[in-house]
Amino acid sequence: MDHPTAPIAPIAGTFGLLKWFFVLLKPYRGRCAVILFCIFLQVALYVIYPLAFQVIFDRVLPFKNSALLIKVMLQLAALFAVCAAGAMVSVRLVAYVGSHVLRDLRLAMFEHLNRLSSSFFARVESSDLLARFSFELAAVELALVRALPALIECSLVVLGCLVTIALIDWRIAAVTLVLLPLSFISSKLLGRKVNALAYDRSGFEARMLGVLSESLSSRPIIRALGLEPQTKANFDLPNNSLAGTSAQLGFFGSLIPVASLYGVNVLVVAIVGTGAAFVINGGLSIGAFFGCFSLLMSVAAGTSTAAIWYAAFVGAIGKVTRIEELMREKIAVSDAPDAITLASLKREISFDNVVFGYSEDRQILNGVTCSIKAGTSVAIVGSSGSGKSTMLNLIARFFDPKTGAVLFDGTDIRAATQASLRPQMGVVLQEAYLFNTSIAENIRLGKLDATDEEIAAAARTAEIHDFISELPYGYQTLAGEHGGFFSGGQRQRIAIARAIVRGAPVLVLDEPTSALDPATEVSINESIERLAAGRTVVMVTHRLAAIQRFNQILVMHQGRVVETGSHAELLAKGCVYRGLWDKQSGFTIDSAGFASVTPERLQAIPIFATLDLNALATVAERFNTETFEAGFLAMREGDPGEKFYIVVRGNLEVLKHGADGREKPVAVLQDGDHFGEIALLNSVPRTASIRALTRAHCLSLSREHFSRLVASQPSLRVALENAMAERDRRVAEPTAGPRGGM
Ligand SMILES: Nc1ncnc2c1ncn2[C@@H]1O[C@H](COP(=O)(O)OP(=O)(O)O)[C@@H](O)[C@H]1O
Ligand SMILES: [Mg+2]
Repeated sequence: MDHPTAPIAPIAGTFGLLKWFFVLLKPYRGRCAVILFCIFLQVALYVIYPLAFQVIFDRVLPFKNSALLIKVMLQLAALFAVCAAGAMVSVRLVAYVGSHVLRDLRLAMFEHLNRLSSSFFARVESSDLLARFSFELAAVELALVRALPALIECSLVVLGCLVTIALIDWRIAAVTLVLLPLSFISSKLLGRKVNALAYDRSGFEARMLGVLSESLSSRPIIRALGLEPQTKANFDLPNNSLAGTSAQLGFFGSLIPVASLYGVNVLVVAIVGTGAAFVINGGLSIGAFFGCFSLLMSVAAGTSTAAIWYAAFVGAIGKVTRIEELMREKIAVSDAPDAITLASLKREISFDNVVFGYSEDRQILNGVTCSIKAGTSVAIVGSSGSGKSTMLNLIARFFDPKTGAVLFDGTDIRAATQASLRPQMGVVLQEAYLFNTSIAENIRLGKLDATDEEIAAAARTAEIHDFISELPYGYQTLAGEHGGFFSGGQRQRIAIARAIVRGAPVLVLDEPTSALDPATEVSINESIERLAAGRTVVMVTHRLAAIQRFNQILVMHQGRVVETGSHAELLAKGCVYRGLWDKQSGFTIDSAGFASVTPERLQAIPIFATLDLNALATVAERFNTETFEAGFLAMREGDPGEKFYIVVRGNLEVLKHGADGREKPVAVLQDGDHFGEIALLNSVPRTASIRALTRAHCLSLSREHFSRLVASQPSLRVALENAMAERDRRVAEPTAGPRGGM
């Protein structure tokens, strides 16, 4: 389709806006030409009918010439008829062109938005984007459909009338020309102010929408915690600012036509005086004077109407700037002009010394070279933040490498069209996103022309078909907002069916089970294993138990692939993978959700390292299971510490207040990590907050329980104190890891 996409020229003042509209209107130039012609007809009307007055005053009335009067009247009637027809045509065409330009613009914005990187969405609130699609576009529509044609017509009327006045009597035209700028100066000066205010106002509107949408989505918790006054205070802020700028905008915006009206009235009075003087001194006929006067009234009407529309027009500059900001956001990846069609994957996906970072100042992948053979299952593992998801982002080409290349059968995927790459991949993410439409439609999003049979087949492979069939409405059952009618495991299976129906040879999964409970996780992992037959599966996971039968495991550490091999090979090697494996072993979660840990596993924790297994068996029994839901604050910085925790499964985020007073994530804790050991010795304030990122099962040991143990076994206390001293020494060193005592 022929519609303008970025880049569009930056907006600077009235002229910039005109240029911007010009680009948008280009595809409709034929219709625009007809509109312009119709506008000319209107202008002709304004210019010609005052001339009729001149004829009537100077040639009809003095000679009582009825024949001429009738002729003039008929000519005027004909002119009116033509102009009225022209006006109809132009109004219709303006509506057509306006609505289509807006449609194109919305589409261009929408398409551009869909190609922006995830870092853009982390930075810009969704309500702000909604505002750009509603308020900003409404202002553009007003400027384009109403203000622009009116301004063109008014300018031409003023110009035409001035030229005609000059033809009748150049002196009157000269006086008019000298005084006319009076009525413009105010609009020009006030215009700048209005423009700036309109831009501010848009920002406040967007912020108000932000607070509104947040409080809508968090209504239950606001009620439960009685946070209504705080919410109101949050809303008050942008709402009051909005009222403030609106008041100023209303004032300055209305001032433009008022000021120009007074300017024009001064002009009219001055000209009437001058014209009358010319008539008295001879040299100007009464008819010519009356003609000039009527033309002048058209000039006055034209200028004050122009001033009103000018205010609306100028108001759009700020709005368009906000649309332009969006359109000028750099898109994450774009097709090369000579991009080729990528053939279906046959041999391998390979990384050739790939260096990548989301921003200039921080590198995430530091030279990754690896190969993923077609038809095999490959797992990417490693600590949190080591760059696993980033690898998938590059395979799916959500981003391009800084240096090096990602290759499909030896072809750099940057040389290929995205349209030929994307269908090769089915993607399943940690959180299965479902749209609030039927299950069938949700699955069909993987392949828009999939038949009902294909959808059912995919659902069967994802092992969700039986469940769907038993629902009263089957595949027509609605998913609810964000898929809320289904459990996490069901959502994930629907998402897997969506990836399967695509018929893609490559299946890319990013921690697809980390938000699920242990039983569901096991059954989904079994499904994934079955799926892997005949497909290339690339799965990121931190749950090593799930990938023991994968063909190859890539172990990532600090943006590099540090080990590759099968589970058995890597275990035998006894390096990084072995360390990760040992960290996750020794835990069980029974069917009732209770976790336990072996004494051997406890011994691997530095504070327990010197205790014998008998003592540790007693310690192990004192642990309780605690399950934190995603978002739950398990520990608050500054609170007195009472418990020591071990993460059995799940992800938790460590947050610390920085020098600027803001809380920042400093580390992610996963299966086998522990935190809060200092609490076993003393009740000291926690040095960080811990928040669950997914549902997290932890084992906790309270100081009270531990003290009783220590009382019976004094060696425990000594061992613990030594371990703490050792840890403090390590933390004091600049190379110490992120995991503190908390
Ligand atoms: N879209 C993004 N924009 C900026 N930084 C990001 C983005 N995604 C991830 N990161 C950063 O890149 C690093 C690696 O992230 P990721 O590849 O997601 O790690 P993993 O999946 O191994 O936990 C992290 O420090 C993370 O903060
Ligand atoms: Mg990740």
